[in-house]
Amino acid sequence: MSVHNENIRRVTTQRLTEMKKRGEKISMLTAYDFTMASIIDSAGIDVILVGDSASNVMCGNATTLPMTLDQMIFMATSVVRGVKRALVVIDMPFGSYQGNSREAITSAIRVMKETHGDCLKMEGGEEVIESIKRVLSAGIPVMGHLGLMPQSINKYGSYAVRAQDDEEAEKLIRDAHLLQEAGCFALVLEKIPAKLAARVAAELFIPVIGIGAGGQVDGQVLVVHDMLGLNNEFSPRFLRKYANLEAIMKEAVAHYVEDVKTGDFPNEREQY
Ligand code: KIV
Repeated sequence: MSVHNENIRRVTTQRLTEMKKRGEKISMLTAYDFTMASIIDSAGIDVILVGDSASNVMCGNATTLPMTLDQMIFMATSVVRGVKRALVVIDMPFGSYQGNSREAITSAIRVMKETHGDCLKMEGGEEVIESIKRVLSAGIPVMGHLGLMPQSINKYGSYAVRAQDDEEAEKLIRDAHLLQEAGCFALVLEKIPAKLAARVAAELFIPVIGIGAGGQVDGQVLVVHDMLGLNNEFSPRFLRKYANLEAIMKEAVAHYVEDVKTGDFPNEREQY
């Protein structure tokens, strides 16, 4: 990865704003390692999120809460090495910014210095606005995240659709404006009614990226393991599966096991 590569026009936060202005949808996927990041970057994705969803799909945890700053930095460093064009956004993990703005800026500077990523994502509105402002004040671009915020799963008690009642919907709209006024360059809205997401996207000038938030927003994000069908146990309504890699991989591995057991692999051309 080199920001000085003149043959590739990198996606920047400014380019995302321009895309919203001209009505061009933004594509975003997660990645957690070098190989996956290289593949999805070369396929033309606009934004790669090193998400703390790694806790679920990479580590097998039930929630995103166990992810540490060190783990996020390890993954993000590998992702950045694989990316030539996309904007790389890195999730600030649970416990790295909620305490106070000093904690937030210390965590944020570590992530930016050690990973060479482009920007950060932080969950929450009013409750964490001081932390978000402090990070922004250091010249670090921040993507907001409202609606279903997986780091607050113990408060919600389930992964059900958020902001279905007027009170929560009004708070979400207020928080969205607050994040835009603070200087966030974009906002993720997760698992909320499509009508509410459409209203937020229409009211804000910053791009709004949805996951389970309908089509009337400025872009879409999915967890790459989910959209590639690597985990067939996870099938929420909002998820479209573009492949069934779980089946393809299982078949390939079973074939390999059989070839090893029967002595078919390696053959004469596959040895020295
Ligand atoms: O961690 C993650 O993958 C996310 C996306 C679901 C937006 O935050």
